[in-house]
Amino acid sequence: MWGGRFAAGPASIMREINASIPFDKRLWQQDIAGSKAHVAMLAQQGIVEGEDAQAITEGLNRIAAEYEADGVPVDLDLEDIHMVTESRLAQLIGPIAGRLHTARSRNDQVATDFRLWVRDAIDEVEAGLLGLQRALLARADEHADAVMPGFTHLQSAQPVTLGHHLMAYYEMVRRDRSRFADARARADECPLGAAALAGTGFPIDRQATAEALGFARPTDNSLDSVSDRDFALDYLMAATQASLHLSRLAEEFIIWASQPFGFVKLPDAYSTGSSIMPQKRNPDAAELVRGHAGRIMGCMTALCVTMKGLPLAYSKDMQDDKPPVFEAHDLLGLSIAAMTGMIETVTFRTDRMRGLAESGFATATDLADWLVREGGIPFREAHHITGRAVAAAEAAGVPLDQLPIATLTQIDARIDARVYAVLTVDASVASRTSHGGTAPAQVRARIAQAREELGS
Ligand code: ARG
Repeated sequence: MWGGRFAAGPASIMREINASIPFDKRLWQQDIAGSKAHVAMLAQQGIVEGEDAQAITEGLNRIAAEYEADGVPVDLDLEDIHMVTESRLAQLIGPIAGRLHTARSRNDQVATDFRLWVRDAIDEVEAGLLGLQRALLARADEHADAVMPGFTHLQSAQPVTLGHHLMAYYEMVRRDRSRFADARARADECPLGAAALAGTGFPIDRQATAEALGFARPTDNSLDSVSDRDFALDYLMAATQASLHLSRLAEEFIIWASQPFGFVKLPDAYSTGSSIMPQKRNPDAAELVRGHAGRIMGCMTALCVTMKGLPLAYSKDMQDDKPPVFEAHDLLGLSIAAMTGMIETVTFRTDRMRGLAESGFATATDLADWLVREGGIPFREAHHITGRAVAAAEAAGVPLDQLPIATLTQIDARIDARVYAVLTVDASVASRTSHGGTAPAQVRARIAQAREELGS
């Protein structure tokens, strides 16, 4: 009836919408591993003859070698990686291949494959984040004493050290790694054997397949096993948060690389020029890390929305779980690698940072604290006196530590020359010795502790 408007008939559209092989071919290693564990267990339990199980295992090994060499053939008619592999197995070993699918369903098969894949993905991310932490530690150590303006509201607030600033990102990445580790621990249950949704009457050994695939234990509810995608959401949520941190760091680099800041010179390897403005040096890699965070969050949202309305147990909507996870994983891997490379090779312009820290009246709080400590003045009053000193310095066009003592005593008679000892930026940072504070000694202590955490 509507054939005139459609180039292809419904059967062909169905074939296209139904197929997941274009993307789930990425699960081939996990699919082969799952099938091998399953058939070994079937033989062990006497559900399939030993000889048949051996033929199936050999066939699966051969298919793995083929996939390795030539890639997975994309045949939309065969729908997904499970069917592509099973049909190839039948070509290779004949009808015996059909015994592999005893006591399982594609529903528990795909849930198992995808968990295995996400587990490996977490391991990859973990390794990448560890590398980023090492890079941050190395640069923080190098610049533990380098004074820079610390900001609130992106206004010069108090001097901090560059090492302290970089270590703030170390702490974020530490939490990211712990989120991925949590996600991995929760994903550590094997759904294989849940079959379509209700379990199976065959005397399978779920403990054995779980162990063979490196899971801590089998899942405990067959309905939940085939309909749960928490492991994928856990991954995406951890990835989202990690990408937010990477994006914030990228944003710092973008601001710092701009001429008015001039805090960093980004390496050539992570910058691009402009085709029209020869002076340009654009922080493209950092901007893309910032952009990718948006896409990763989009992937997380996509899977949340896919899952939110689904009744138990498996629904085909769940086939759409894989593209967002694959996409987020690829983007996150690139972002981590790019940020690590930038951290390792960026040139910090510490002279410029120091100059700006000195010019922004950033030690005003130190003056107020000194009045409290040495003059016994209540902080609110000290704040007011300091405000007048800042106004005087601003009017004279000098930093606080260059105001003549006469000017200071005129503002408040309780000020004396000892105050100059706290007005330099170095004195300011050195005085912040509270736990987690910016004093170089504190920062170095945290770096040493962090090295121990990382085992380096
Ligand atoms: N390709 C499917 C997926 O990725 C496999 C499971 C299909 N199961 C089914 N009953 N149609 O989710």
